Amino acid sequence: MYLILLVLCAPPFGCDDPPVPGPASASAARDGLPNLQRVDPELDVWVGGQPHPGIGEAALAALGIRSVIVVDALAPLADSDSIVRVHMPLKYSGIDAMESGQLAHLVGSLERPIYIHCHHGTNRAPAAAAVGLVCTGEWSNEQGLSLLERSGTDDAFKGLFESVRAAGVLKKADRPVYDGASVRIEDLAVSMAAVDDAFLELEQASKQGWLDADAPAEAARLVDLLRVSFERTSLNEDLLFRKLAEGCIERAAELEASLLAGERDLSLKRFMAVEATCSACHDRFRN
Ligand code: HEC
Repeated sequence: MYLILLVLCAPPFGCDDPPVPGPASASAARDGLPNLQRVDPELDVWVGGQPHPGIGEAALAALGIRSVIVVDALAPLADSDSIVRVHMPLKYSGIDAMESGQLAHLVGSLERPIYIHCHHGTNRAPAAAAVGLVCTGEWSNEQGLSLLERSGTDDAFKGLFESVRAAGVLKKADRPVYDGASVRIEDLAVSMAAVDDAFLELEQASKQGWLDADAPAEAARLVDLLRVSFERTSLNEDLLFRKLAEGCIERAAELEASLLAGERDLSLKRFMAVEATCSACHDRFRN
């Protein structure tokens, strides 16, 4: 063990400037936390994807994380006494002024290290961290935008970039308190209504030849809402339901990918494939 550390610390690797915590635990944590990155060597704020079932918790512990902000639509599953978890679902279309203020409140008041995560860790989580840190005055707008660059945030989510550009410093008194207590999207009928809303927006966009610049963000929202809808229902105990649910999410994710790639004909085909999976499940489980 010591020998390995000695080797790692020898040139050309060097250990002059180890991030806190050390590189070894950070790389172990990467297995449990997809797309993990520390936003800044000076700040105890990390972003990434949804903790991997099983090893994600250990990874959070290895990093010494004290607080988690979940900006994915899915509420955090794990609960422990030692980590505070706040659920603040964000859309792909952008972070509004109220949400920006709430993020400033959270980033400025939660105990650090903080882990901010969405599903993949590349779009909403970096945007949330950037907006939060600009609003607390810890970062400039340019630093915020550079986090999006480094994270590979997709250009198609223009609203996320715009939110970081538009963010400004907020005094503590102007940051709305947020604790996630009012988030309620677990009832299948309620979340299905949100699914339908995203679906109808996409239907509209498809009729207009996908010219709407928000179509990729809307498809991403659909994927997200479908995941939430199906995650928590007891219908999941039925194997056929689970298969239909997974098929629907997969088709919607394919639609998102072709919209991101700007492939319109393929997107229309994929949209119709999504619709077929909605009906297949309703025929069997709803009607
Ligand atoms: C894996 C199964 C499944 C898939 C896939 C599915 N749904 Fe549903 N959906 C349900 C079930 C079950 C209900 C009834 C929920 C209830 O009433 O408790 C429902 C209800 C609904 C409702 C009525 C909500 C209300 O207000 O009561 C709408 C609208 C809806 N789904 C739209 C969609 C759309 C659009 C898609 C595809 C993008 C979709 N669903 C995919 C299972 C599914």
